[in-house]
Amino acid sequence: MDDTINIDQLLQETMVRRGQWLAETVSTNSDALSLAGDCSLELPYLIGADRQTGGRGRGKNAWWSSAGALTFSLILEPDQFAIQQQQWPRISLATGVAVGECLAAVVESSAVQLKWPNDVFLQGRKVAGILVETSSNAPGRFVIGIGINVNNSVDEAPEEVQRLMASLRSTAGHPFDRMGILSRLLIHLERELILLGEAASEQLDRFRERCLLTHEFVTVTNPNEEVSGLCLGIDDDGALRLQTEYGPTTCRSGTVRRCEGEP
Ligand code: BTN
Repeated sequence: MDDTINIDQLLQETMVRRGQWLAETVSTNSDALSLAGDCSLELPYLIGADRQTGGRGRGKNAWWSSAGALTFSLILEPDQFAIQQQQWPRISLATGVAVGECLAAVVESSAVQLKWPNDVFLQGRKVAGILVETSSNAPGRFVIGIGINVNNSVDEAPEEVQRLMASLRSTAGHPFDRMGILSRLLIHLERELILLGEAASEQLDRFRERCLLTHEFVTVTNPNEEVSGLCLGIDDDGALRLQTEYGPTTCRSGTVRRCEGEP
């Protein structure tokens, strides 16, 4: 199968206005953040790579991937999609919905779940991660980094990653068309960003339908606090609702751990 990414085709089929695809880089998000301050850039701008040597995840996490994965970043302005500033925190959730639904169209749909805020799981293991960043050099611009384990195999991953990750190829037992998935994903993402601009509540309903955490006992950690409780789902602002021993509470950001062995 031809596994190359054709930027010209993406320019024709999707919202992307300019882009480049590299054989290898350290991190497409770092590249995108360096480029984002350039006012002459036509947006959305896509930068992708067949291999990242230092992929970054949320917080202090690294993002491991090998050849066959899809790793890329988009530079865009929420204004292009009429997304008001109060909706900016939901860009990562909207991206999660786009990635989840794109993957659900190519594998068994019910096996794809979303772990708040924006991890995508396949058969209970993480298949895709999203890192949304901004830079003070590029006010009003966002970098949306997406990593999807498509044709890279779980067996090639370091042991500590293998237990946690899924790849489309390892799950389905056959390779996938990366270019087709990327093009379809960019179309899904444009639609979700437009819906976010319209403050469409049904987007959150679609997140809820695939929510991995609802009815699970979880711990949410962020720099200021750690909160544990039963996950009640996602509220209308996209925040995570928990029933704790002190009463109901809402988490707007953080890393979530599922607590095994809880009642
Ligand atoms: C996470 O799950 O913590 C987020 C992972 C995000 C990985 C992608 S791969 C493309 C882009 N470049 C990076 O360095 N990170 C993101």
